Amino acid sequence: MTTYNREKRFKTRSVAGTLALGEKISEILSPTPKLVVLRGEVGAGKTTLVKGIAEALGAATEEDVTSPTFTLVHEYQGRKVKLYHLDLYRLETEREIEALGIDEMAADPNALVLVEWGERFESIASRADAEIAMEHGEDNERSMMVRWR
Ligand SMILES: Nc1ncnc2c1ncn2[C@@H]1O[C@H](COP(=O)(O)OP(=O)(O)O)[C@@H](O)[C@H]1O
Ligand SMILES: [Mg+2]
Repeated sequence: MTTYNREKRFKTRSVAGTLALGEKISEILSPTPKLVVLRGEVGAGKTTLVKGIAEALGAATEEDVTSPTFTLVHEYQGRKVKLYHLDLYRLETEREIEALGIDEMAADPNALVLVEWGERFESIASRADAEIAMEHGEDNERSMMVRWR
């Protein structure tokens, strides 16, 4: 596992609040962290946060960002940053991960790679630059912990 030396917590009470957090979090994530793991149970708000980050980067509108559960990877060109959004929920093996070419994506100095369920794979967990852990609270409450190095 990566050791992170910085951390910041956020709390939201609505979808709009989580979308708005995309701005703050994208500031933390650019320009340095390249490979970012998004963890949290189904419905925690991982995809919603990616929508907010994509908007903040000028990469896509909130409506354009959909869950890559079946397509695995979506790619959006932002003003400065190319955003890759992955969802590995349906994958099981490191071999399947290898085929995605995540290393190549993250090697681009202008890329930001956001990976839902990335913590399930050692090859990703061990080289992530940041992690966003999301928790479902009561009703529409969600808490987020961003850790990075
Ligand atoms: N504060 C909130 N932040 C994000 N999503 C919320 C919030 N409150 C309620 N929701 C709902 O929770 C669900 C989050 O879904 P999604 O972002 O796809 O989660 P995940 O990708 O973690 O499975 C959506 O149905 C959304 O409308
Ligand atoms: Mg999702």
